[in-house]
Amino acid sequence: MNLPNMIEAKKRTKIPVKYNYYNIDKNDNFKGKKYFIRTYGCQMNVHDSEEIKALLESVGYQETLDMETSDLIILNTCAIRENAHDKVFGFLGRCKHLKKEKKDLIIALCGCMAQEEHVIDEILNKHKYIDIVFGTHNINELPNMLLEKINKTNINVYSKEGEVIEVGNLYKRDSKYSAWVNIMYGCDKFCTYCIVPYTRGKQRSRKSKDILKEIEELKNKGYKEITLLGQNVNAYGKDLENEITFSELLESVAKTNIERIRFVTSHPWDFTDEMIEIIAKYDNIMPYIHLPLQSGSNKILKLMGRRYTKEDYMNLFDKIKKQIKNVAVTTDIIVGFPNETEEDFNDTLEVVNYCKYDSAFTFIFSPRIGTPAAQMEDKTDLKVKEQRLQKLNELVNKYSLENNKKLLNTRQKVLLTEISTKDENKLCGYTETMKLVNVTCDKKLLGTIQLVKITDAKSFSLEGIIE
Ligand code: 5AD
Ligand code: SF4
Repeated sequence: MNLPNMIEAKKRTKIPVKYNYYNIDKNDNFKGKKYFIRTYGCQMNVHDSEEIKALLESVGYQETLDMETSDLIILNTCAIRENAHDKVFGFLGRCKHLKKEKKDLIIALCGCMAQEEHVIDEILNKHKYIDIVFGTHNINELPNMLLEKINKTNINVYSKEGEVIEVGNLYKRDSKYSAWVNIMYGCDKFCTYCIVPYTRGKQRSRKSKDILKEIEELKNKGYKEITLLGQNVNAYGKDLENEITFSELLESVAKTNIERIRFVTSHPWDFTDEMIEIIAKYDNIMPYIHLPLQSGSNKILKLMGRRYTKEDYMNLFDKIKKQIKNVAVTTDIIVGFPNETEEDFNDTLEVVNYCKYDSAFTFIFSPRIGTPAAQMEDKTDLKVKEQRLQKLNELVNKYSLENNKKLLNTRQKVLLTEISTKDENKLCGYTETMKLVNVTCDKKLLGTIQLVKITDAKSFSLEGIIE
């Protein structure tokens, strides 16, 4: 696809390990320096930030939660919708102000937005106070970028193709009990509204032996839960020779006997019967599937390039519900895609009424520069789109509440991962079906899986006790 606005991809087959951060003498350069990091966007970004933190700490930086006292501010950005872009530039305004008072403060911008050419132009023209810009493929080069004498914005962004070479695999993980594990990077689906294939690049799967090794290590460290991460996990391995399918990978992961396995995100097009069988067969694969619908209208699905029809989706949904015991299904839906009529929107509502999702993330279509959908004529008023979103949200919330209420007085297995920020006599965690529960219990139970009696149910969370 020829996209003149996108960064010219310098095709490389390997990550350049020109800079090996382990060689940087941590005491000399970064001792006593503090970094502050703010992360926007998806789990992939959250996990990238875990890598950035480990990398900075391996060379001597320390994390601070107070940006005013930091020597380095990093913004790990998201490009998926316009409001993500606005939030970042809003926050950059505060950083600029700080830099006026503290001249040697370093401001770095990374993540998906940093891979967009028009954003780089904007930075070079209007935001010259930003010192470093690095892409999702250049994380390991950050310490060296920090070492280089900075007198102008230092940009290190390129997209990468080919085999994934393991570099470092060092993470400062946010949780001691639940961990993210990348199984692949990028995406080849090119849904017409989506920026991800351009910012994150082509699909590149990690080798299964490296993934399994990481999971074994996590298990030995006491992790109870892992979530396999990819933009489209079902397509895992398709880009590798002599590799395994996602179902085979899932089965191998299940056999490590780690207590809980999750995976996100699944594209309905690549979801196989074999996958459903494996999920149903192993108790340690959680009965929870995030299955983005995007639209219930066949006309819109075609314009979106999703490769399935409403009927295909509903058939798949039926198979999942029938074969996986007590499974919860959640989804993503976009309203107001170009050319969406009231009838198309009603098709979406019809699928929601059919699937009665456990929850759904809903969005108004946001044109992303360089994607085909941004070029499509769009006559629908924003007001109409907002009304559709509101109507959809009301329906989605109704089903979330109904599904949650069904759990009242039942006992659910919950992995208690955090102390509640609202009430320190409560721990929080997720059920096997990914429902958030606030549990009144002894703090000593942090990090354990407990059978919790559900005592109250709201749309977005549950309350529970341990009997
Ligand atoms: N506009 C609105 N929503 C979008 N998403 C992705 N791209 C766009 C866009 N351009 C939504 C999709 C996807 C989720 C992560 O974000 O629903 O599944
Ligand atoms: Fe974007 Fe589609 Fe790939 Fe998901 S599957 S990341 S929506 S292109």
